[in-house]
Amino acid sequence: MSAIRPEKFTLKNGVPVIIRSVEVSDWAEQIQFRNTFKNETIFTWHTPATNPQEEETKKFIAATLAAPKECFIGAFHEKKLIAQIGIHKLLGRDHPWTEHAARFGMTVLKDYWRQGLGIKLLNVMQEEARRMGYQVIHAEVREANKPAIEMYTKFGFEITGTQKKVAFINGRYHNDFLIFKEIN
Ligand SMILES: CC(C)(COP(=O)(O)OP(=O)(O)OC[C@H]1O[C@@H](n2cnc3c(N)ncnc32)[C@H](O)[C@@H]1OP(=O)(O)O)[C@@H](O)C(=O)NCCC(=O)NCCS
Repeated sequence: MSAIRPEKFTLKNGVPVIIRSVEVSDWAEQIQFRNTFKNETIFTWHTPATNPQEEETKKFIAATLAAPKECFIGAFHEKKLIAQIGIHKLLGRDHPWTEHAARFGMTVLKDYWRQGLGIKLLNVMQEEARRMGYQVIHAEVREANKPAIEMYTKFGFEITGTQKKVAFINGRYHNDFLIFKEIN
C-alpha cells in the first residue's frame, strides 16, 4: 500500500490543513475538486468539458493506493480537498530501464494559492518518492505557467527542454517545458 502518514500543516493565512493519502471514500470530494479546478486553470490536462465519473474515480484511487511505486496525496481543509499531488512511474507502467524515475502532477485550488501549500506538497512528494526508491523526478510545465515555473525552480528543478506546440488552447499553441530534479 502506498499510503502516507497523515500530517498537519498550517497555511500562511492560518487555515489548518491535513495532508494525507486520498482514499477511495474521498471519491465525491475528488470529483468536486476536479470540477472546480478544470474551470480555474489551463495549465493541467483537464478541460471544462472533463466530466469525472464515480466508478473511474474510485478505480483510479484504489489502483494508486495498491501500487507500491505510486501515490496520490491530498490536502484537506475540514472535509474539502483543496490540493493534490500524484507520483507516478515515468512511463505510467513498469519498465526495467526506468525504475529510478518518477513523474508527478499537482494542482492547488485557486482560493488557496500563494499560501505555501504548493511548496509543502512538493516536499511531501519528494520525501515519498525517495522512500519509494526513486532517484530522479521528471514533469512538464506549460511555458506560460509562470507561477509554477517560479515554484519548481525555487524547489530545485531545472528546465531541461521544450516540447513545442504540445497544446492548442483557445486559439493558440502552447509549449511545455520539461523539468527535472535529482533527489538522492
Ligand atoms: C502552481 C501552483 C501549484 C502553486 O501553488 P501554491 O500553493 O500557490 O504555491 P506556493 O504558495 O507554495 O508558492 C511557492 C512559490 O511559487 C512562486 N509562486 C507561486 N505563485 C506565484 C505567482 N502567482 N506569481 C509568481 N510566483 C508565484 C513563489 O516563488 C512562491 O513563493 P512565495 O509565495 O514565498 O513568494 C498553483 O498555482 C496551481 O495549482 N496552479 C494551477 C494548476 C497548475 O498550474 N499546476 C501545475 C501544473 S505543472
